[in-house]
Amino acid sequence: KRVVVLYGGRADEHSISCISTAGVLGAMDTERFEPIPVGITKDGKWIINGEDPRGWNLDGGELPTVKITPESRPVMLDPSRGQDGFFIGEPSHINSADSGFGTSFVSMSDPEMHHVLTSLGHVDAVLPVLHGPYGEDGTVQGLLEMMGVPYVGCGVFASAACMDKHYTKVVLDAAGIPTAPGVTVDARNFTAADVLAEIEDAGLTYPLFVKPSRAGSSFGVTKVEKADDRETQQDRLAAAIATAGEHDWKVLVEQGIDGREIECAVLCPKAGDEPEASWPGEIVLDHQNDDQFYDFDSKYMDASASHVEVPANLPVSVLEDVRDVARRAFKAVDGAGLSRVDTFVTPDGTVMVNEINTMPGFTPISMYPKAWDATGVSYTELITRLIEGVLR
Ligand code: DAL
Ligand code: MG
Repeated sequence: KRVVVLYGGRADEHSISCISTAGVLGAMDTERFEPIPVGITKDGKWIINGEDPRGWNLDGGELPTVKITPESRPVMLDPSRGQDGFFIGEPSHINSADSGFGTSFVSMSDPEMHHVLTSLGHVDAVLPVLHGPYGEDGTVQGLLEMMGVPYVGCGVFASAACMDKHYTKVVLDAAGIPTAPGVTVDARNFTAADVLAEIEDAGLTYPLFVKPSRAGSSFGVTKVEKADDRETQQDRLAAAIATAGEHDWKVLVEQGIDGREIECAVLCPKAGDEPEASWPGEIVLDHQNDDQFYDFDSKYMDASASHVEVPANLPVSVLEDVRDVARRAFKAVDGAGLSRVDTFVTPDGTVMVNEINTMPGFTPISMYPKAWDATGVSYTELITRLIEGVLR
């Protein structure tokens, strides 16, 4: 079966996607599947024959990105051709045409275009290993729906709802699933005094976490401590909102939850089946530092800074509660395929959902594959089940 593996992408999490994809391609059962890696550059061009992710050296140094090389060819999509609608072309010709080099739909009736395009062949499924906006947010999913190509993972709605932390709260609140209290701010148009008043009205306690509503991997997140006077408090808030606002105009100011961050991997390869939940896991920091939270650097730049523990060291009854909340949250957002549901477990055992990642980090040392491995599903088997679940 021929499987297009989409990676890279336009989001800040481009390099994380590259690292996840290196792992996925390395673990994929190649007797069963023929992977066709299709890279998406940071500016949105789709290519084949980029550098092979399996050859990347991921030990520190420069983060991997999708680069156009002399061997690269642009990938074109023709929705009217469904699973046969992937085409490759000659860059020189494509560049000279207005239709551009990238995701734009090429008119197949244009004779000028037709002779430079070759079909990639029938594609049985697409595995979008893309994190963040333009990948995990329903946009690529919508494109694939239009093409009628089976793809792994959540559909348009679940992807969009989970990418946007504000709307994740709205949906989960309606389903009676607790989330951290917070207020939503428009970073393009706010005054720190108003935000502070809103925080007080909502009764939020410190520390606060200020984050972009639609981003991942802790990009743009700031922890805001209580200040001694209002002016300093407003300055801190304004600075944190500006930082988050570099990633998204929609910014969430959330109450920090006194609890442990426990993550649960949900798997549902076949639409309509009951989702399964893994044993929940916890990221254990090896050098405890009170001022730090699990930020981008500790997640990806310093693998020795932390390790994944599955199951998390908690009573079985609490672990079962987390699994139950994870399955309910997945169903509440209309999840499909996979998601990692991140929760907070407070000292009294309350489970709150922090966020739902519809395409969680997928490197061999990431929580999602590790949690399934500890629950009895190996990395390779996980990928096989996800792909086979969508094949027609
Ligand atoms: N957004 C990153 C990839 C994660 O949640 O794992
Ligand atoms: Mg995340």
